[in-house]
Amino acid sequence: MHSTSIFDNHFDTFSSQEPQRAPIGVFDSGVGGLTVLRQIYQQLPNESIIYVGDTARLPYGIRSQTEILQFVREILHWMQQQRVKMAVMACNTSSALALDIVRQEFNFPILGVILPGAKAAVQQGQRIGVIATPATAQSNAYRQAILEINPNVQVWQVSCPEFVPLIEQNRIHDPYTTEIAKTYLEPLLRQEIDTLVYGCTHYPHLSPVLRSLLPSQVKLINPAVHVVAACSQELDILGIKNTHPPMPTRFAVSGCPQQFTQSGLHWLGYTPMVEQVCFADAVVS
Ligand code: DGL
Repeated sequence: MHSTSIFDNHFDTFSSQEPQRAPIGVFDSGVGGLTVLRQIYQQLPNESIIYVGDTARLPYGIRSQTEILQFVREILHWMQQQRVKMAVMACNTSSALALDIVRQEFNFPILGVILPGAKAAVQQGQRIGVIATPATAQSNAYRQAILEINPNVQVWQVSCPEFVPLIEQNRIHDPYTTEIAKTYLEPLLRQEIDTLVYGCTHYPHLSPVLRSLLPSQVKLINPAVHVVAACSQELDILGIKNTHPPMPTRFAVSGCPQQFTQSGLHWLGYTPMVEQVCFADAVVS
């Protein structure tokens, strides 16, 4: 089932006649990508955005590569139908397991969070900790990306399976969340890391908790900041940065729209208009 949006026609007209006015597609399994969206609002205020949250199928971080690839392809096909000019994988798990494969399959640029995050980390530290979903940690994507840039630094990755469900349930200030965060950070603190990378876009939502548990000299790297900077550069290079006022952000989720409206209000500070989409319908096989 495809829901129509009041924005569809505008986006269509823009993308065929004036490509710079076409939207950028941003996707995540849930509210994690909102940390990237907030950066887009700051760094690229003229861009129109279509935000996808695959909330019916989260968390991605405990899925197999085959499943992630399928979900990512479905979302990107749907975005292609919406005529996006660029897509941002605001999801480390997808960036780690699917980006290199799907990049060749679509005719618009697709950016992921891992390389920009890795570049920022090596600029900051020598003893780098990465907290991530089980799938991202297991993929070794951060370690590889970081060591490729600088083989002389040290990298420790910790899988944090409980964080995404806790964040999706908005249990940030629950004492249990602090307890579990202590457990996840403990091996990294033992290694005396000087830098910690949020290897999942959900985790910046936990920053008050994580900051309170880390020594003040440990630098926190939020790859969202750096992927949006990369996005801005790419738009300049391609000559498709929007200079007109943007359309309101369009939100499309596979799960419950009302629930996402609540989360959107909490994390963005305004009430988003959210529609429900079945992304699997976008792929005609
Ligand atoms: N926020 C995503 C990431 O950066 C996905 C988390 C999940 O759904 O497990 O990996």
